[in-house]
Amino acid sequence: MDLEAEADLTRCGALKDFWYVACLSTELKPGEPLARTLFGTGVVLFRDVQGQPTALRDRCLHRNARLSRGAVFNGRIGCPYHGWVYDASGAVVEVPSLGPSQRSELLDADACAREGLATAPCALGRLTRFPTLEQDGLVFVYMGGAEPARSAPFRVPYWDQEGWTVYFMVTRFPNGVTNLVENFMDVPHTLFVHPGWFRRPASKRVPATVRRTAGSVLVTYKQAQDTVTGLGRLFNPRGLPLLHTDKFYVPNVTRVDYLWGEHGFVINSQCTPIGPTDSLVYTAISYRLPVDVPGALVGRAMMPLVRWYTRQVIQQDVVIMDIQREALLDGPGGGVYSGTEADLHHADIEAYRRWLREGGQGSGPEDAERDMAFWI
Ligand code: FES
Ligand SMILES: [Fe+2]
Repeated sequence: MDLEAEADLTRCGALKDFWYVACLSTELKPGEPLARTLFGTGVVLFRDVQGQPTALRDRCLHRNARLSRGAVFNGRIGCPYHGWVYDASGAVVEVPSLGPSQRSELLDADACAREGLATAPCALGRLTRFPTLEQDGLVFVYMGGAEPARSAPFRVPYWDQEGWTVYFMVTRFPNGVTNLVENFMDVPHTLFVHPGWFRRPASKRVPATVRRTAGSVLVTYKQAQDTVTGLGRLFNPRGLPLLHTDKFYVPNVTRVDYLWGEHGFVINSQCTPIGPTDSLVYTAISYRLPVDVPGALVGRAMMPLVRWYTRQVIQQDVVIMDIQREALLDGPGGGVYSGTEADLHHADIEAYRRWLREGGQGSGPEDAERDMAFWI
């Protein structure tokens, strides 16, 4: 696994040819710039006059100051150093040192000549502008080339669906995307990293099938009754049969479903690479509880408890990802992995991501379906 290349815009191959979450809709406030780093590249986000998200390269054309440290006004952004102003297309529309005649206007070359401007702001170039899209409470950015994205942005499960509650958690993880999606799709670690939070050690063999198809890896656990503890117990007091599936979607999304009947929990994580071993993870937690369960009568009111619980679990994963990173970066040889049956789906994830990093030509890893098993 080449962590460096995976998170570098110039070396990540087709990994960049997808929509990535840049921020929550609520994080992008009108009139305020927001700085993000994706694939090692600084991006400034702000809302234009219509309120639509705009994403520009976060580096002033003049002397390269950080635009995200400047101000947003009238859907434009001004550099904090010498005040150059850019519109939402990335064009320079004002250079204060050129005097008052060109202020607040995007003058074309003729108009600049009429005004007697030796240098026209519009001739000073344009910042790279990245397409954006806002959907399901998330702002996505596309940093791929001229080709359209390889797939549409991932839809947040049960967003805006009757009876379901959805909330987001944003977490900075000290590791790269491949290791994170593997962690989010991994059951055996729960006994060690989250002891007692999900499951108690049951000395039980868990059979599962792993299906790799069309850029996704689906793991279906064939357990008639998973022994979920913690909040799972509270929300499924009758112990209805639980359907547990883990799914990965190229290049950076996981979806974990714990469903019983019409109810359950769905945990969707979208990972955005900042650099080789740093990522921002946008976790959408969707849940629907049986209305006749006393605890669920207060549906939304339980959110603080659910949030607290999920925050604890995520923090435990942050710690283990940091522990993994420390050894990964400890001299040569990091990133060479070995595995057993319990890691079949991890190998599939790596195969897809390697294929994309190498350019994503052809149809990629062939479809496959295999059985696996592990003990928990
Ligand atoms: S560096 Fe941005 S205006 Fe000078
Ligand atoms: Fe975990």
